[in-house]
Amino acid sequence: MSSIKPSAHLAEVRYEIRGALTRRARDMEAAGQPIIKLNIGNPGRYGFTTPTHLREAIATHLGDSEAYGHEQGLEEARDAIVAQQAARGAVGVDAEHVFIGNGVSELIDISLRALLQPGDEVLLPSPDYPLWSAATILNDGSPRYYRCLAENGHLPDPDEIDALVGPRTRALVLINPNNPTGAVYPRALLERIVAVARKHHLLLLCDEIYDEILYDGTPFQPLAAVAGDHPCVSFGGLSKVHRACGYRVGWMSLSGAKARIAEYRDALQLLAALRLCANVTAQWAVRPALLDKPTIGELTAPGGRLHEARRIVLDHVAASPYLDCVSPGGAIYAFPWVRADAIAHFDDTAFALRLLEEEGVLVVPGTSFNLHASRHLRLTLLPEPAQLAEVFTRMDRVLGRMAAEDRPPASAVA
Ligand SMILES: Cc1ncc(COP(=O)(O)O)c(C=O)c1O
Repeated sequence: MSSIKPSAHLAEVRYEIRGALTRRARDMEAAGQPIIKLNIGNPGRYGFTTPTHLREAIATHLGDSEAYGHEQGLEEARDAIVAQQAARGAVGVDAEHVFIGNGVSELIDISLRALLQPGDEVLLPSPDYPLWSAATILNDGSPRYYRCLAENGHLPDPDEIDALVGPRTRALVLINPNNPTGAVYPRALLERIVAVARKHHLLLLCDEIYDEILYDGTPFQPLAAVAGDHPCVSFGGLSKVHRACGYRVGWMSLSGAKARIAEYRDALQLLAALRLCANVTAQWAVRPALLDKPTIGELTAPGGRLHEARRIVLDHVAASPYLDCVSPGGAIYAFPWVRADAIAHFDDTAFALRLLEEEGVLVVPGTSFNLHASRHLRLTLLPEPAQLAEVFTRMDRVLGRMAAEDRPPASAVA
């Protein structure tokens, strides 16, 4: 009997954050071995809770959540997003230009589906959050990667972005604050990037889901305010800043000169209507999340749990004979690498498998983020600080064994 063949598109699509290593970790757990998981940015799994006033807003409106809602989202939730965008200086955002989705994940797909023709190119950061690459490919586009190198603080180089633009390039994606690197882009850099987008008529897509998770006074500059009348889509959500991944609520707002974005807006509306609406129940949390008192600052300020986790990671990297790291200015990850002078022949995937099997710790190899260099690892800052310290003890043990065995890979010797 012939087997059911999946779409050929999927051959190029990967999502290693929940991939083979994670499946191996689940098997090990099922066999009774405890695993410390640093692979996924899911605050609710590490004892963080959604603020009570968000839960209460949902509970109060349960009875109002049983019908399909507006395809773009609850009016009062969209009004709160409009107010947030206006306060940030975004141009032309009204409720007609806001779309609420089942997480930013759904909106990433919709934003690209509404834009791309077969063969169009999208400029993406390397490393990226891999859904951006996957959604580009699944919507018939081709990723073109601009580098965010560690030696440049994981910031992109606008001249490199400019040089990558071709006749089929349609959009430029930024992730700021960045997953996986934690880089936060300064305003002067964003101005240069907007100038590239203007020069080549590229739609700006800015994933700002970590917009309020910032450390040591690092300022966050929303892209829409810099883009002004240039078309820009800004993404935000409840998952990270409001620790509500399971609610599945994200939003995107479309800014810029109305005449230039009108057709694209209508295409977004059609796609939003085809899936009827986003989960209505959880949308009731948007207004209190954006307009009532912010809660993330307690966690990112000195003494707060995320701040302390980041400090422990940076202290341990500094003390490790093997590791180096750019200090993350925002988000909930660190992206350290293994120094070439410590272990000359290093492979991030082989290391992650050994760390899992030999020490029961799950991390994501840097190459899972569409990064060519294979020396990086992504860790979440979500575990309790004491557990993170234990993770570094275990990592250094595996790295010590790898340093002792250090020799060229078999393919290089042959
Ligand atoms: C950069 C980035 N964008 C989007 C998402 C998806 O967010 P959501 O839970 O809103 O779908 C994530 C999740 O980790 C992310 O890191």
